Amino acid sequence: MVKVVHFSCLMVAVVFFGINLTEAKYIGGYYWSGASIVLKCDNLNASLLTHLYYAFVTANEDGSLTVQNAQKGYANDLLSLKSSNPDLKLLFSFVADNNGSFSKVVADKNLRKTFVDNALELVQQYQYDGIDFDWEFPQDKDKVNFTALLNETYTEFKKYNYQVTAAVRAIPVYKNSGYDIPEVVKYLDVINIMTYDYFGSWSNTTGQNSPLYPSSLDSAYEREYLNIEASIKNWVEAGAPKEKLAVGLPFYGRTFTLADPTNHGVHAPSLGGGSPLAPTYYQILKNYQNFTTEWNDEQKSPYKYSNTTWLAYENERSIAIKTRYAVENGMQGVFLWHLGCDDIYGEYSYEKQVLLHTINKVYRNK
Ligand SMILES: *[C@@H]1O[C@H](CO)[C@@H](O)[C@H](O)[C@H]1NC(C)=O
Ligand SMILES: *[C@@H]1O[C@H](CO)[C@@H](O)[C@H](O)[C@H]1NC(C)=O
Ligand SMILES: *[C@@H]1O[C@H](CO)[C@@H](O)[C@H](O)[C@H]1NC(C)=O
Ligand SMILES: *[C@@H]1O[C@H](CO)[C@@H](O)[C@H](O)[C@H]1NC(C)=O
Ligand SMILES: *[C@@H]1O[C@H](CO)[C@@H](O)[C@H](O)[C@H]1NC(C)=O
Ligand SMILES: *[C@@H]1O[C@H](CO)[C@@H](O)[C@H](O)[C@H]1NC(C)=O
Ligand SMILES: *[C@@H]1O[C@H](CO)[C@@H](O)[C@H](O)[C@H]1NC(C)=O
Repeated sequence: MVKVVHFSCLMVAVVFFGINLTEAKYIGGYYWSGASIVLKCDNLNASLLTHLYYAFVTANEDGSLTVQNAQKGYANDLLSLKSSNPDLKLLFSFVADNNGSFSKVVADKNLRKTFVDNALELVQQYQYDGIDFDWEFPQDKDKVNFTALLNETYTEFKKYNYQVTAAVRAIPVYKNSGYDIPEVVKYLDVINIMTYDYFGSWSNTTGQNSPLYPSSLDSAYEREYLNIEASIKNWVEAGAPKEKLAVGLPFYGRTFTLADPTNHGVHAPSLGGGSPLAPTYYQILKNYQNFTTEWNDEQKSPYKYSNTTWLAYENERSIAIKTRYAVENGMQGVFLWHLGCDDIYGEYSYEKQVLLHTINKVYRNK
């Protein structure tokens, strides 16, 4: 009996004072230097982030590294943000071309060493705080040596107290995923699960870009893999500690072309993508004002449609719900792709960087 009383007191405390919520501390933002409109760092409120990822650095097949858009100086500019937020962690996010080049690096002990040495030098040269692996995607044959690379990177980087993180695929994680999950999680400080792109131009029906929960119209496969809740569950069941996992929030939408404009719900037949394929949140606020807007309460995301165009997206409400989900579930927190998609100047919102502020409000109102 006593135990039961204590237990419910604790639950009450959690509900009222949000004990769980104080645990979450992570808000990661990707800064994409290749975006058509690049966010100037003067317009970035650094106190709204804990981690900032410079995207991207290309990992070449000889183990050398190329900072994309280096000549534009963004990677240096970001360093100035530490004056307003000294705790901000700056990380370089690595991509590999999808041509098998990084598989070669990973499969060769000497190239791995070259890569790690170069990565360390890069971080030191720019006075950053670590690196992020955004390899889309390792395959089954890469699994053993990708683990080795992460081990070697982590071992070296921790000598300097640098961070090592990764952006990983959401679906599916079991088969041929390229990650030895129980092993790789040991070598990563944060695991950014890319919980978006569940449905898009490649889908034969409409669907949310980043649904929190399944739809009652989902197939068994969709229920099991194509929503945030399922991805978290799959990663945890495969051996990832929930407290290292971060939910990915897309600051962009996905368009579809309806087969029949009168059939415009979720799971309506789709003929492919619309144009543009992935409008930013800013473009959505600006260009889709005449569309009919619906709230998909089952999946906690909005969508819009007009004639044959259908748009899945996120807004303040859905971003707040998903942030709260991450925080209440004892996860590391959330990250977003990418900062430049937000309504940066607040042209269509009541404040600047409105989606990023929305995330922060959820953390603050704990
Ligand atoms: C950054 O955001 C914080 C939290 O909302 C706010 O207090 C601060 O004034 C903002 N800074 C700037 C320069 O806008
Ligand atoms: C694959 O991409 C990498 C990185 O851009 C490049 O260095 C390499 O030359 C490419 N390899 C092939 C075979 O195309
Ligand atoms: C893994 O790396 C080792 C050491 O470089 C190499 O001998 C081996 O062939 C690699 N394994 C695979 C599957 O690439
Ligand atoms: C990395 O791998 C080595 C060799 O398998 C192992 O001894 C070591 O414990 C691993 N490093 C960490 C940080 O776990
Ligand atoms: C739609 O795609 C799913 C999954 O790829 C497939 O199982 C289904 O048969 C397709 N439906 C139609 C109507 O083409
Ligand atoms: C909204 O619809 C009106 C009337 O059809 C049209 O003139 C206007 O350009 C549309 N605005 C947008 C942003 O599409
Ligand atoms: C709806 O879209 C179709 C196909 O693009 C087009 O032919 C038609 O004129 C559009 N109808 C309206 C009312 O805009």
